[in-house]
Amino acid sequence: MRFCLNVDHVATIRNARGEVQPDPVNFALMAEQYGVDGIVVHLREDRRHINERDLRLLRELITTKLDLEMACVDDIINIACDVQPELATLVPERRQEITTESGLNVIDNLKMIKYTVARLHEAETLVSIFIEPDLNQIDAAAEINTDIIEIHTGHYANAVGEDDIFDELEKVRVAAKHAKKLGLGVNAGHGLNYINMKEFVAIEDIDEVSIGHAIIARSMYVGVEQAVKEMINIIRFAKKD
Ligand code: PXP
Repeated sequence: MRFCLNVDHVATIRNARGEVQPDPVNFALMAEQYGVDGIVVHLREDRRHINERDLRLLRELITTKLDLEMACVDDIINIACDVQPELATLVPERRQEITTESGLNVIDNLKMIKYTVARLHEAETLVSIFIEPDLNQIDAAAEINTDIIEIHTGHYANAVGEDDIFDELEKVRVAAKHAKKLGLGVNAGHGLNYINMKEFVAIEDIDEVSIGHAIIARSMYVGVEQAVKEMINIIRFAKKD
Protein backbone atom coordinates (compact mmCIF):
# COMPACT_ATOMS: atom_id res chain seq x y z
CA MET A 1 0.00 0.00 0.00
CA ARG A 2 1.46 3.36 -1.03
CA PHE A 3 1.03 6.45 1.15
CA CYS A 4 0.46 9.86 -0.43
CA LEU A 5 0.35 12.98 1.72
CA ASN A 6 -2.21 15.75 1.23
CA VAL A 7 -0.61 19.11 2.17
CA ASP A 8 -3.71 21.32 1.79
CA HIS A 9 -3.90 22.12 5.48
CA VAL A 10 -0.37 23.49 5.59
CA ALA A 11 -1.75 26.10 3.20
CA THR A 12 -4.81 26.57 5.43
CA ILE A 13 -2.53 27.67 8.27
CA ARG A 14 -0.46 29.88 5.97
CA ASN A 15 -3.57 31.54 4.58
CA ALA A 16 -4.88 32.30 8.09
CA ARG A 17 -2.33 35.12 8.15
CA GLY A 18 -2.12 35.78 4.40
CA GLU A 19 1.65 35.50 4.57
CA VAL A 20 4.16 32.95 3.29
CA GLN A 21 4.73 30.54 6.19
CA PRO A 22 4.24 27.66 6.66
CA ASP A 23 4.87 26.77 3.03
CA PRO A 24 3.06 23.66 1.72
CA VAL A 25 5.73 23.23 -0.95
CA ASN A 26 8.48 23.10 1.64
CA PHE A 27 6.42 20.68 3.76
CA ALA A 28 5.90 18.42 0.72
CA LEU A 29 9.61 18.34 -0.08
CA MET A 30 10.44 17.42 3.52
CA ALA A 31 7.79 14.67 3.50
CA GLU A 32 9.31 13.23 0.32
CA GLN A 33 12.67 13.00 2.08
CA TYR A 34 11.01 11.04 4.87
CA GLY A 35 9.47 8.52 2.51
CA VAL A 36 5.97 9.45 1.28
CA ASP A 37 5.10 8.03 -2.14
CA GLY A 38 3.40 11.13 -3.48
CA ILE A 39 1.93 14.54 -2.76
CA VAL A 40 -1.77 15.41 -3.03
CA VAL A 41 -3.33 18.87 -3.29
CA HIS A 42 -6.87 20.05 -3.95
CA LEU A 43 -7.00 23.22 -6.03
CA ARG A 44 -10.44 24.47 -5.02
CA GLU A 45 -12.37 26.96 -7.07
CA ASP A 46 -12.35 29.34 -4.08
CA ARG A 47 -8.57 28.75 -3.50
CA ARG A 48 -9.20 28.41 0.21
CA HIS A 49 -5.94 26.55 0.75
CA ILE A 50 -3.69 25.59 -2.15
CA ASN A 51 -3.24 28.19 -4.88
CA GLU A 52 -1.84 28.06 -8.39
CA ARG A 53 1.62 29.14 -7.28
CA ASP A 54 1.77 26.14 -4.92
CA LEU A 55 0.57 23.77 -7.62
CA ARG A 56 3.07 24.94 -10.23
CA LEU A 57 6.00 24.89 -7.79
CA LEU A 58 5.06 21.40 -6.65
CA ARG A 59 4.89 20.30 -10.27
CA GLU A 60 8.41 21.58 -10.79
CA LEU A 61 10.00 20.39 -7.56
CA ILE A 62 8.58 17.13 -6.31
CA THR A 63 10.23 13.92 -7.41
CA THR A 64 7.64 11.32 -6.35
CA LYS A 65 4.25 11.98 -7.93
CA LEU A 66 1.63 14.69 -7.90
CA ASP A 67 -2.06 13.92 -7.41
CA LEU A 68 -4.31 16.91 -8.12
CA GLU A 69 -7.80 16.72 -6.61
CA MET A 70 -10.20 18.78 -8.70
CA ALA A 71 -13.81 19.52 -9.55
CA CYS A 72 -15.14 18.83 -13.05
CA VAL A 73 -15.26 22.50 -14.14
CA ASP A 74 -13.62 24.05 -17.18
CA ASP A 75 -11.30 26.53 -15.43
CA ILE A 76 -9.75 23.82 -13.28
CA ILE A 77 -9.67 21.28 -16.12
CA ASN A 78 -7.66 23.79 -18.18
CA ILE A 79 -5.14 24.27 -15.36
CA ALA A 80 -4.86 20.52 -14.83
CA CYS A 81 -4.24 19.87 -18.53
CA ASP A 82 -1.51 22.50 -18.46
CA VAL A 83 0.16 21.27 -15.26
CA GLN A 84 -0.17 17.56 -16.17
CA PRO A 85 -0.04 15.95 -12.73
CA GLU A 86 0.70 12.22 -12.69
CA LEU A 87 -2.84 11.74 -11.40
CA ALA A 88 -5.98 13.89 -11.35
CA THR A 89 -8.60 12.85 -8.79
CA LEU A 90 -12.10 14.09 -9.58
CA VAL A 91 -14.05 15.18 -6.50
CA PRO A 92 -17.37 16.94 -5.86
CA GLU A 93 -17.04 20.47 -4.56
CA ARG A 94 -19.46 22.67 -2.68
CA ARG A 95 -18.40 26.10 -1.46
CA GLN A 96 -20.16 25.78 1.90
CA GLU A 97 -18.53 22.49 2.84
CA ILE A 98 -15.65 22.39 5.35
CA THR A 99 -14.09 19.44 3.55
CA THR A 100 -15.10 17.03 0.76
CA GLU A 101 -18.25 15.45 2.15
CA SER A 102 -19.02 12.55 -0.15
CA GLY A 103 -17.96 10.76 -3.27
CA LEU A 104 -18.84 12.00 -6.74
CA ASN A 105 -22.19 10.79 -8.00
CA VAL A 106 -20.95 9.40 -11.31
CA ILE A 107 -24.33 7.99 -12.35
CA ASP A 108 -26.08 11.37 -12.07
CA ASN A 109 -23.27 13.43 -13.62
CA LEU A 110 -22.11 11.03 -16.28
CA LYS A 111 -21.74 13.48 -19.16
CA MET A 112 -19.59 16.08 -17.38
CA ILE A 113 -17.39 13.49 -15.71
CA LYS A 114 -16.92 11.58 -18.97
CA TYR A 115 -15.91 14.82 -20.70
CA THR A 116 -13.42 15.61 -17.88
CA VAL A 117 -11.88 12.13 -18.04
CA ALA A 118 -11.46 12.43 -21.80
CA ARG A 119 -9.85 15.90 -21.57
CA LEU A 120 -7.38 14.72 -18.93
CA HIS A 121 -6.52 11.62 -20.94
CA GLU A 122 -5.79 13.85 -23.94
CA ALA A 123 -3.32 15.66 -21.66
CA GLU A 124 -1.75 12.29 -20.82
CA THR A 125 -2.92 12.43 -17.21
CA LEU A 126 -4.19 9.38 -15.37
CA VAL A 127 -7.62 9.86 -13.81
CA SER A 128 -9.08 8.72 -10.51
CA ILE A 129 -12.67 9.30 -9.40
CA PHE A 130 -13.47 9.75 -5.72
CA ILE A 131 -16.59 7.67 -5.01
CA GLU A 132 -18.55 5.98 -2.29
CA PRO A 133 -17.98 2.23 -1.79
CA ASP A 134 -21.04 1.56 -3.98
CA LEU A 135 -20.79 -1.09 -6.69
CA ASN A 136 -23.13 0.71 -9.10
CA GLN A 137 -21.04 3.88 -8.88
CA ILE A 138 -17.89 1.84 -9.47
CA ASP A 139 -19.43 0.21 -12.57
CA ALA A 140 -20.37 3.65 -13.91
CA ALA A 141 -16.84 4.95 -13.28
CA ALA A 142 -15.35 1.99 -15.14
CA GLU A 143 -17.68 2.60 -18.09
CA ILE A 144 -16.40 6.13 -18.59
CA ASN A 145 -12.81 4.91 -18.71
CA THR A 146 -11.39 6.06 -15.42
CA ASP A 147 -8.04 4.47 -14.62
CA ILE A 148 -8.46 4.41 -10.86
CA ILE A 149 -11.16 4.94 -8.24
CA GLU A 150 -10.55 6.47 -4.83
CA ILE A 151 -12.93 4.98 -2.28
CA HIS A 152 -14.37 7.49 0.18
CA THR A 153 -13.42 6.24 3.64
CA GLY A 154 -15.19 8.97 5.60
CA HIS A 155 -17.99 6.67 6.79
CA TYR A 156 -15.44 4.15 8.04
CA ALA A 157 -13.51 6.92 9.78
CA ASN A 158 -16.67 8.26 11.46
CA ALA A 159 -18.08 4.87 12.45
CA VAL A 160 -18.57 4.35 16.17
CA GLY A 161 -18.69 0.95 17.88
CA GLU A 162 -17.24 -2.37 16.75
CA ASP A 163 -20.19 -3.46 14.57
CA ASP A 164 -20.43 -0.19 12.73
CA ILE A 165 -16.70 -0.05 12.14
CA PHE A 166 -16.70 -3.66 10.88
CA ASP A 167 -19.63 -2.95 8.50
CA GLU A 168 -18.02 0.15 7.01
CA LEU A 169 -14.69 -1.58 6.60
CA GLU A 170 -16.43 -4.49 4.89
CA LYS A 171 -18.11 -2.10 2.42
CA VAL A 172 -14.68 -0.72 1.49
CA ARG A 173 -13.21 -4.23 1.18
CA VAL A 174 -16.03 -5.42 -1.12
CA ALA A 175 -15.86 -2.24 -3.23
CA ALA A 176 -12.08 -2.52 -3.62
CA LYS A 177 -12.31 -6.15 -4.73
CA HIS A 178 -15.06 -5.30 -7.22
CA ALA A 179 -13.01 -2.44 -8.70
CA LYS A 180 -9.95 -4.64 -9.01
CA LYS A 181 -12.01 -7.25 -10.91
CA LEU A 182 -12.96 -4.52 -13.38
CA GLY A 183 -9.28 -3.77 -13.91
CA LEU A 184 -9.24 -0.46 -12.02
CA GLY A 185 -6.55 0.84 -9.71
CA VAL A 186 -7.87 1.36 -6.18
CA ASN A 187 -6.98 4.28 -3.91
CA ALA A 188 -8.73 5.29 -0.69
CA GLY A 189 -8.92 8.29 1.55
CA HIS A 190 -10.67 10.74 3.83
CA GLY A 191 -10.48 10.72 7.59
CA LEU A 192 -7.79 8.05 7.78
CA ASN A 193 -5.55 8.45 10.82
CA TYR A 194 -2.99 6.73 13.04
CA ILE A 195 -5.68 4.69 14.78
CA ASN A 196 -8.10 3.64 12.06
CA MET A 197 -5.26 2.85 9.61
CA LYS A 198 -4.19 -0.08 11.79
CA GLU A 199 -7.15 -2.18 10.61
CA PHE A 200 -7.44 -0.53 7.23
CA VAL A 201 -4.00 -1.62 6.05
CA ALA A 202 -5.16 -5.24 5.97
CA ILE A 203 -7.33 -4.56 2.88
CA GLU A 204 -5.21 -6.11 0.17
CA ASP A 205 -6.94 -4.62 -2.85
CA ILE A 206 -6.06 -1.04 -1.95
CA ASP A 207 -3.02 0.25 -3.82
CA GLU A 208 -2.71 3.68 -2.26
CA VAL A 209 -4.06 5.87 0.55
CA SER A 210 -4.30 9.66 0.54
CA ILE A 211 -4.02 11.14 4.03
CA GLY A 212 -3.85 14.79 5.02
CA HIS A 213 -5.36 16.24 8.16
CA ALA A 214 -4.12 13.62 10.64
CA ILE A 215 -0.52 13.92 9.47
CA ILE A 216 -0.44 17.73 9.38
CA ALA A 217 -2.02 17.86 12.85
CA ARG A 218 0.43 15.32 14.29
CA SER A 219 3.40 17.13 12.78
CA MET A 220 2.59 20.10 15.03
CA TYR A 221 3.26 17.95 18.07
CA VAL A 222 6.14 15.77 16.92
CA GLY A 223 7.55 17.40 13.77
CA VAL A 224 7.21 16.48 10.10
CA GLU A 225 9.73 13.64 10.15
CA GLN A 226 8.16 11.70 13.00
CA ALA A 227 4.58 12.33 11.82
CA VAL A 228 5.38 10.93 8.37
CA LYS A 229 7.50 8.02 9.60
CA GLU A 230 4.91 6.91 12.17
CA MET A 231 2.37 6.45 9.37
CA ILE A 232 4.89 4.72 7.11
CA ASN A 233 5.61 2.30 9.96
CA ILE A 234 1.93 1.47 10.42
CA ILE A 235 1.70 0.59 6.73
CA ARG A 236 5.01 -1.29 6.60
CA PHE A 237 4.35 -3.27 9.78
CA ALA A 238 1.01 -4.48 8.41
CA LYS A 239 2.67 -5.69 5.23
CA LYS A 240 4.84 -8.09 7.24
CA ASP A 241 1.86 -9.77 8.95
N1 PXP B 1 -9.07 12.10 -0.52
C1 PXP B 1 -9.88 13.09 -0.96
C2 PXP B 1 -10.58 12.92 -2.26
C3 PXP B 1 -10.06 14.26 -0.20
O1 PXP B 1 -10.87 15.22 -0.66
C4 PXP B 1 -9.37 14.40 1.01
C5 PXP B 1 -9.54 15.65 1.82
O2 PXP B 1 -8.97 16.71 1.14
C6 PXP B 1 -8.52 13.35 1.42
C7 PXP B 1 -8.41 12.20 0.64
C8 PXP B 1 -7.73 13.43 2.68
O3 PXP B 1 -8.59 13.50 3.77
P1 PXP B 1 -8.01 13.81 5.21
O4 PXP B 1 -7.47 15.21 5.18
O5 PXP B 1 -9.18 13.65 6.10
O6 PXP B 1 -6.92 12.80 5.48
